[in-house]
Amino acid sequence: MQEDSLSRRQFLLAGTALAAAPLIGAPVVARAAAPHVLPPLPYPDNALAPVISAQTIGFHYGKHHQAYLTNLNKMVEGTAMAEMSLEQVVRSTAGVADKAGLFNNAAQVWNHTFYWNGLRPNGGGAPGKELALRIEKDFGSLEALRKELFTAASTQFGSGWAWLVEEGGKMKVVKTGNAETPLTRGMKPLFTIDVWEHAYYLDYQNRRADYINALLDKLINWEFVGKNLMS
Ligand code: FE2
Repeated sequence: MQEDSLSRRQFLLAGTALAAAPLIGAPVVARAAAPHVLPPLPYPDNALAPVISAQTIGFHYGKHHQAYLTNLNKMVEGTAMAEMSLEQVVRSTAGVADKAGLFNNAAQVWNHTFYWNGLRPNGGGAPGKELALRIEKDFGSLEALRKELFTAASTQFGSGWAWLVEEGGKMKVVKTGNAETPLTRGMKPLFTIDVWEHAYYLDYQNRRADYINALLDKLINWEFVGKNLMS
């Protein structure tokens, strides 16, 4: 089956890291109009424990992510945006003052799907050879990249996200507040860390740094990063 004959929803339902890749920055060739559906997690809800517990996933995915999706569907129902894909809604509402609520919910749906796909059980470790070379070229070393990600995630004031992105052919680390996403800033997202308190408070309380370190060491899905980079 050709990629462009699949709906975006079918891609997400495939539930693999690769399935999330078409979300990234590429022109929208498939339509996935409302009602949008919550993509399944690419692993069981206890697969990321003890770094991220099943309880956290139950609230984070089952309540928060779901709530953003429910709000999105309510907000676009009966409007022209009901015919748009999720990416189109995010892009067309970014920076539009009277669409802030819709942007926040749509972007949070996108950001969370991307976050889940960037994690995997038994992740971390070393990236593949091609990605490792790119990291060395753009950051100097894997350790330097890790340090930048840690700093961005730990210093994001309040709710938000730390991102590894590619911009102008070069990888870099950025952070965004609340629902903001590099998707609307001319950058290609490669990986993200959710640093909203709901992402870690049940497991780590106020110890955000412990959550970030554990996630970077044990859950980062380098294959997902590499596929996004090469897409
Ligand atoms: Fe979150």
